[in-house]
Amino acid sequence: MVRDVIIFDTTLRDGEQAPGNTMTPEEKLRLARQLDALGVDVIEAGFPAASDGDFRSVREIAQEVRRPVITALARCHDRDIDLAAEAIQAAARGRLHIFLSTSDLHLEHKLRMSRDDAFELARRSIRQARRYTDDVEFSAEDASRTDLDYLCRVAEMAIAEGATTINLPDTVGFALPEEYAVMFRTVRERVPGADRVVWSAHCHDDLGLAVANSLAAIEAGVGQVECTINGIGERAGNAAMEEIVMAGRVRPQLTRFQTRINTTEIYRTSQLLSYLTGSFPQPNKAIVGRNAFAHEAGIHQHGVMQHGLTYEIIRPESVGIPRSTLVLGKHSGRHALERRYRELGYDLSEGKVTELYREFTVLADRKREILDEDLLALLHESFHDAPEEYHLTHLRIVCGSGLAEADVRMTGPWTGERAARAGGDGPIAAAFAAISEILERPVEVSNLSVRSVTPGRDSVGQVFLQCRIGGKTLSGQGASTDIVEASARALVHALNKERHAERLEATAYDSTQHWGV
Ligand code: KIV
Ligand code: ZN
Repeated sequence: MVRDVIIFDTTLRDGEQAPGNTMTPEEKLRLARQLDALGVDVIEAGFPAASDGDFRSVREIAQEVRRPVITALARCHDRDIDLAAEAIQAAARGRLHIFLSTSDLHLEHKLRMSRDDAFELARRSIRQARRYTDDVEFSAEDASRTDLDYLCRVAEMAIAEGATTINLPDTVGFALPEEYAVMFRTVRERVPGADRVVWSAHCHDDLGLAVANSLAAIEAGVGQVECTINGIGERAGNAAMEEIVMAGRVRPQLTRFQTRINTTEIYRTSQLLSYLTGSFPQPNKAIVGRNAFAHEAGIHQHGVMQHGLTYEIIRPESVGIPRSTLVLGKHSGRHALERRYRELGYDLSEGKVTELYREFTVLADRKREILDEDLLALLHESFHDAPEEYHLTHLRIVCGSGLAEADVRMTGPWTGERAARAGGDGPIAAAFAAISEILERPVEVSNLSVRSVTPGRDSVGQVFLQCRIGGKTLSGQGASTDIVEASARALVHALNKERHAERLEATAYDSTQHWGV
């Protein structure tokens, strides 16, 4: 029998929580919309008690994204649960997800609490959550290292108090597949009322077993798996959704489960997340890595040309990977551009096509062959997650041996154009120094990475950076065939985000009552 498994996506919570994956509320909303298009059943939108930004973004997602269940995470603290409930209040279908550690190790060293006290705290918290909604998930954090008798007692109590989903996470990625499966089988057999709730698996990848453990849990009867796009998450990450889903698709006879995921949206979702966080999966990452469908060896290439199944177990198209084709060039018109975006799955408004065509012609002047990847880079670049108040209007660099020098002109929240000339250790440092001079304040850039969008000498370089401006850490991205210009654009992008964040904070403090409580 083939069972339906619920896909619980925690990219915006467990995924975003990991360093380097920070997203602004606008970026989170964009990703949530794409997760909806992908067909996930549950979106864990955030941890509202963690910060004002998290609260606001969960609330916004709950208001805007109507099909999936929207869930918010809370510790077993009254305030956490109240805030989480308030954040999901407007959801078409909202869930409260509360968690408490159950392993002796966590109870003794993290919570400094006895088993009995933790049991009572969990009971009170589930009751409190149930006053807000009848969709309550309880997670026994570090379940895979918890004494089985105690775990069964806690699960029995959670069910009796009205939790509807019980999650038994492998919080530190310690379990082996068979062991994790045995835990679920035992608890489900022993706990009265086990058949009234959905059991959920949540796996981390510290031993590289998160997906294997999730599949073992499905085999042991869980009805929900918690996972993230590209497997991002704490430490080594969470179970990668695309891998779990495709394992079910490719091996249905053995895995015997199905999901409601529209697999042709997988690649688009993976790319969007990568562009938003500036962190791309390693090239050999299953399903979504750059090389996942590349065949280097001649013998393989020949085989695939004769019959795809010789060396390909998944057709790239089935996960939405556009075949890299030479598509457009300098003489291509607006209609050709629009048609190609449509073929790639993007139905764009007139205004968006006009904006992209303008950028396209600039690129086509610099780059002879425009590939699908270039078009995707242009598209991602064009979504402004903050109003563009700062603009780079001119950049000229002189460099060679010795100090580099940059001439920069910018418009911004001042009248007219400002100009500065500055030197630096290299062309990028010089450009940043000139921008900092224009702003009349220091800008600290860390973590700059360059990625070439397509192969070849005239490739577009995509720059992702993180910087500290006015006490905030922000990310920015920019693309150009010139990586110095791409870097300057990435910094300007971060500046625009900082300005936008300042505005939002000002309105938040004026208009809502719970900030800072
Ligand atoms: O890994 C974990 O245990 C978690 C819980 C909060 C569900 O992320
Ligand atoms: Zn986790």
